[in-house]
Amino acid sequence: MVQFRLPKNSRIKKGKVHNSPNDGNFKRLNIYRFNPEKNDNPRLDTFYLDLDTGSQMVLDGLISIKDNIDSTLTFRRSCREGICGSCSMNINGVNTLSCITPIESIAGDINIYPLPHMPVIKDLVPDLNHAYDQYESISPWLKSDKKPLKNKERIQTQEERKKLDGLVECIMCFCCSTSCPSYWWNGDNNKKSYLGPAVLLSAQRWIEDSRDDKTIKRLEKLNDSMELFRCHTIMNCTSACPKGLNPAKAIAEIKKKVALEIE
Ligand code: SF4
Ligand code: SF4
Ligand code: FES
Repeated sequence: MVQFRLPKNSRIKKGKVHNSPNDGNFKRLNIYRFNPEKNDNPRLDTFYLDLDTGSQMVLDGLISIKDNIDSTLTFRRSCREGICGSCSMNINGVNTLSCITPIESIAGDINIYPLPHMPVIKDLVPDLNHAYDQYESISPWLKSDKKPLKNKERIQTQEERKKLDGLVECIMCFCCSTSCPSYWWNGDNNKKSYLGPAVLLSAQRWIEDSRDDKTIKRLEKLNDSMELFRCHTIMNCTSACPKGLNPAKAIAEIKKKVALEIE
């Protein structure tokens, strides 16, 4: 029988209210909590963040909560300036980077969940192992049989380098893939699965690189009804990218190249 609700053990319960100040300049954050070591459902905990302590971005708020209220709150972060891609999460229904999301840009409560449709390791930390296996499958490195001249770089013209603009800026935050309905449904752990917009944009980065001479092999590998052609041009990926990139366009370019160069 078709199951329309989440299984009982994954339904989100009402969680704890960790602090409840009477007055002051506070913002309410409702945060998804899940601890795999406890045989318990996920829950939504509430924290009141004191805005007078200087938190500017949502990530600052999470760090302040971890430092001052609940040290067990778990999330990824590193650069704090939109470069490393590790602090991606779902904030008020939008997949984005918490370190570049100003608290003041959000009216009302801030509701924070891990990136959707990924297994959760703990709290706001998704398991990205499968996504990184998929990334490895596209060989994200330069492949060339030509040896560079001794002590010389592999040269590109300015026009050749320009073709990589909009591709090399990807920080692998997976905001796009986890916004893509086709990736939700077809990106799972099967032998052949949809690679999703983050991985396909990276594939295009190497396909377009003039220094790489395995373009045809790369296209042949991607010419697959699951890996590439499960993209149905829904465009959620492009709306979601916090770096302003256009993975849907990159995927369309790969499909065009497959059609023109190997079919
Ligand atoms: S354009 Fe393709 S990759 Fe982007 S959201 Fe749609 S189906 Fe997913
Ligand atoms: S394309 Fe954008 S949203 Fe997708 S992984 Fe790269 S930076 Fe993140
Ligand atoms: S902490 Fe590096 S992108 Fe947010």
